[in-house]
Amino acid sequence: MGKLLVFNWKMNPATLKESLALAKISDQKNIVVAPPFIFTEEVGRVLKKAKLGAQDLFWEAGGAFTGEISPRELKNLGVRYVILGHSERRHKLGETDDMIEKKIKAAAESGLMPILCVGETKKEKAAGERDWILRRQLSIDLPGKLLVAYEPVWAIGTGEPESPEEAVKAINFISRLLTKKRKKFKVLYGGSVNSLNLKNYLQYKEVAGALVGGASLKKEQIKKLIKLCQK
Ligand code: PGA
Repeated sequence: MGKLLVFNWKMNPATLKESLALAKISDQKNIVVAPPFIFTEEVGRVLKKAKLGAQDLFWEAGGAFTGEISPRELKNLGVRYVILGHSERRHKLGETDDMIEKKIKAAAESGLMPILCVGETKKEKAAGERDWILRRQLSIDLPGKLLVAYEPVWAIGTGEPESPEEAVKAINFISRLLTKKRKKFKVLYGGSVNSLNLKNYLQYKEVAGALVGGASLKKEQIKKLIKLCQK
């Protein structure tokens, strides 16, 4: 089986037209496309081989929660995967482990596959706290089956990825924790992945795939990334 690539478009692109163009070239197996909420339905219609993802959800099933999106609404649009606990939400929007725990639970209960993002900041890494941070972020109540994305915060969107060797060390640490908890899981790497460095990560059996931000918005990059993950 090939490795999985999750394309996290974040708050891009600005138009439906551009979204559909990206979706068409991303539509290959082993790919998950997570567009902005507003384009989910239309992007879902284009995807035949790739799976549809979302970048967040709210933990309640419905009701008076202005601006939020429920797991059921996503499910009804054909969403299969949901990115949760992304560092941009943790650090820029104040999302806590407690909130992430509720989201993960709501996702799993609705039949959506959670992709839990974990990773340390530059300061935490410098202080030798990486494993401690990962342990804390994974100490929340987790469903039986999940995907985890190891994404060092300082490597996201910076063009400065973690080295594959260090990433594998962190992934091994995550795997040991989750194995002890008897979870079924796979771990992806994320943080400045592009078509030049992807193979350096995928060569390790411990790395089940990658979560890709910036490069997943560039047509030439997308084509190359897809080729590499299907090898
Ligand atoms: P990046 O983003 O590939 O642009 O570093 C990764 C992510 O945020 O998931």
